[in-house]
Formats: sequence, structure tokens, C-alpha cells
Amino acid sequence: MPMNLTRLFAKAPLINPSLLACDFAHLAREIRSAEEAGAHILHLDIMDGHFVPNLSIGIPIVEAIRRSTPLPLDVHLMLDEPERYVEPFRKAGADLLTVHIEVLPDPRPLLDRIRRLGAVPGLTLTPPTPVETLLPFVKECGIVLTMSVMPGFGGQQFDTAAPEKIRAIAETVSPGTLISVDGGINVDTIRSCAAAGANTFVAGTAFFGAEDRKTRMRDLLVACESQPG
Ligand code: DX5
Ligand code: ZN
Repeated sequence: MPMNLTRLFAKAPLINPSLLACDFAHLAREIRSAEEAGAHILHLDIMDGHFVPNLSIGIPIVEAIRRSTPLPLDVHLMLDEPERYVEPFRKAGADLLTVHIEVLPDPRPLLDRIRRLGAVPGLTLTPPTPVETLLPFVKECGIVLTMSVMPGFGGQQFDTAAPEKIRAIAETVSPGTLISVDGGINVDTIRSCAAAGANTFVAGTAFFGAEDRKTRMRDLLVACESQPG
């Protein structure tokens, strides 16, 4: 089934737990806990050991996650050759597929292909990449993701230059686009991102590391509705 972006957007602001920070020995239980805490979407980090100096989960695990939850799956492809993998990840159950501008001088054909596969196309950029490289293509996206850490690992410190990029993206996207931010999001850093126009917040450590995830989810949502202090 094609993903219904309008329905998902209507629930924004969205907290998007990143499974990279969960206990993979109890994957189904961790997913259930995210559902019970009120997550509307799940973020899955896919790495190839080339684009980023790390490896994570692959297609069979995404299939297993798909079987265990009705939540939309937001798949972040940290890969040198995303064009080789969008179809298998869509088949595995990805609802949103986000690719990196750094490996795609012209991302339009791939964004188009993702859309034709029935998924929401997304673009992202790493902290050293100027936002201007991405802006010409954001109207072709259903989700635009600003990375606020170097991709590859959870638990890193938030890049304070991210809100400025988010603001530029928010001024350029079409209405109804998910404006997402990924890396070092917590109850403090979420404020400046929300104020800049983000409506979707990936949270790995801040969500799965919380003793009480329901309370953490609520605190993140309250923080993103309040202005930066
Ligand atoms: C990093 C990933 C992130 C990561 C975020 O490469 O893209 O999604 O899981 O983790 P935290 O929220 O811990 O910074
Ligand atoms: Zn990610």
C-alpha cells in the first residue's frame, strides 16, 4: 500500500524513535514500548560501512520489524549506492525512504523512483554539507531530514548549526512536508529545531535511554511546543 503522508503529517509534531538505540536482543519488545509510548513513526538506520564507518541492520531485519508493527517505517539509507537498495527496502516494508544528497549529484530520478514504488521520498544532508545543495530538490520530497550529527553512530552531540539549515528548508518545502532532524535530539536541543520549523524529531538515546519512555515522549513533545530558553 502506498504510504499516506497527509495522514501522518496531520499528527505532527512527530517523535520518531531511532531503533539504533534500542535493545536489539528484545526487538519486538522495544517496538511495542515505542508504540505504547505514543510513537507515530519508527526510524531505521541503514549503514554500509562505506558512506559511514559503521554497519547496522539490513533487509531481513527491516522485514522482521515490518511484521511486528503497523507504525510507518522511516528508513534512513546511509549508503554510497542508494539506487541499488531502494527497491529491496521498499519490498521489505519501508514507508519513507531517505537518501543522502552527498552521493547524488542529481537526486531527482531516484526520488521519482521511490515515489513510483509507493514510498515517501526523502533527502538528507550531513553537517558539513551546505543546505544550498539540497534546497533545489526539496519540493520533490515528502520528508527532508537535517542531520545534526555525523551519520554512523547514536549518542553524539547535537550540531548547533542545524536549526539554521532547518529554517532554510522550512522556507522552501511544499506545505505538508515532514521537516525532520536527526542526531543528538533531547528535551533541550529539540526546542531550537522546532522553533526553526522542524515537525518530526528522530530520538535514539533520548527515547530508548529513558527510564520512563512514556514520560520522555511527553517531555519531548512539550519541549518542542515551547520556545527555546
Ligand atoms: C546516526 C543516525 C541517527 C541516530 C540518532 O547515524 O542517523 O538516527 O540513531 O541517535 P541519537 O538520537 O542518539 O543521536
Ligand atoms: Zn538516522
